[in-house]
Amino acid sequence: MTQKIAILPGDGIGPEIIAEAIKVLEYLNSNLGLGLEFERGLIGGAAYDATGVPLPVATVELVKQADAILLGAVGGYKWESLDISLRPEKGLLGLRSELQLFSNLRPAILYPQLANASTLKPEVVSGLDIMIVRELTGGIYFGQPRGLRILDNGEKQGYNTLVYSESEIRRIAHSAFKIAQKRDRRLCSVDKANVLECTELWREVMTEVGKEYPEVELTHMYVDNASMQLVRAPKQFDVMVTSNMFGDILSDTASMLTGSIGMLPSASLDINSKGIYEPVHGSAPDIAGLGIANPLATILSAAMMLRYTFNLGAAADSIEQAVNDALNTNIRTADIYSEGMQKVSTSEMGDAVIKALTMRHNND
Ligand code: NAD
Ligand code: IPM
Ligand code: MN
Repeated sequence: MTQKIAILPGDGIGPEIIAEAIKVLEYLNSNLGLGLEFERGLIGGAAYDATGVPLPVATVELVKQADAILLGAVGGYKWESLDISLRPEKGLLGLRSELQLFSNLRPAILYPQLANASTLKPEVVSGLDIMIVRELTGGIYFGQPRGLRILDNGEKQGYNTLVYSESEIRRIAHSAFKIAQKRDRRLCSVDKANVLECTELWREVMTEVGKEYPEVELTHMYVDNASMQLVRAPKQFDVMVTSNMFGDILSDTASMLTGSIGMLPSASLDINSKGIYEPVHGSAPDIAGLGIANPLATILSAAMMLRYTFNLGAAADSIEQAVNDALNTNIRTADIYSEGMQKVSTSEMGDAVIKALTMRHNND
């Protein structure tokens, strides 16, 4: 059976990192006969330049027909002064909302070889394995009303609305509890229930859903404390569940525990586990075109795609093991470089993963 993957490289380092993930998927496709088919589409600034909008109708059509989507990143200096409705980021948000990808999984795992690349002490991060579950289609990102208005005194005012309905909270709660069930069965819900009514409801619904999962230990933490605890003692966490904006911020923090944001993959899933797979980082305009970006977050996102959408757990494992093998050598992209290592380019890192896959394949 063929499976169609929509490829949306996007902007900045997007095309560079996507090229490496495709190399890996194509290797597995031809060696394991996975039946994957790839079709490219435009998103973000690249789509705006070509069509005048960040999310063309043709891309929406493409992703609706596809079984899964692999995305690079969107955004960049060039498009920063556009009206917010035309900005590259709007393309990505539109896609998440259009496909109802409410459940965003962002695993932060420290590969032991990178303990020295983290800015934190090795003993603080060694053995780290956290799953952040971020609500992705609601909250302040999408709440109405929003906009800019002129006050009576002539002053401009910007406003956004933080809003969650019970059903939105309930479905992300179920996602998070189900994930926690398969891990260490500890779920920490992160909110700001001491100040915001919306997150007071969040806490209430989390607690209510928790009664259906008695084997999972549910705790609650305020987001300011959670951000501090993540760098103080990150291993206290197993699964964290939180709202759209808090999850955005906390996952970038968590990325540095693993050595670099270039290591963090993600899956954004709908109720049927169709989804967008993309690195947690952005388009890194400061290093775009230099061929030095770390492709591992994107390669690991491709592994998540095989696992979550296509149920190809063994193929996903083989990618993750190949990444581990590549890190067992002394090659490092600049973001995870430490003394004594050899600095390599984006494509050399991709090649190292292919080489590791080949060696494992030949030994089977
Ligand atoms: P960023 O994640 O793009 O970059 C932050 C820093 O991390 C930069 O110094 C960058 O060079 C570095 N970095 C990121 N990915 C890396 C990689 N794979 N290898 C090595 N270094 C890497 O965040 P930003 O600078 O705040 O945003 C840049 C643009 O990306 C903005 O337009 C923003 O809106 C967009 N963005 C897009 C996404 C997405 O597409 N999912 C995510 C975040 C930001
Ligand atoms: C992310 C990004 C996006 C977000 C932006 C680009 C819309 O930061 O995927 O983490 O804020 O969700
Ligand atoms: Mn982000």
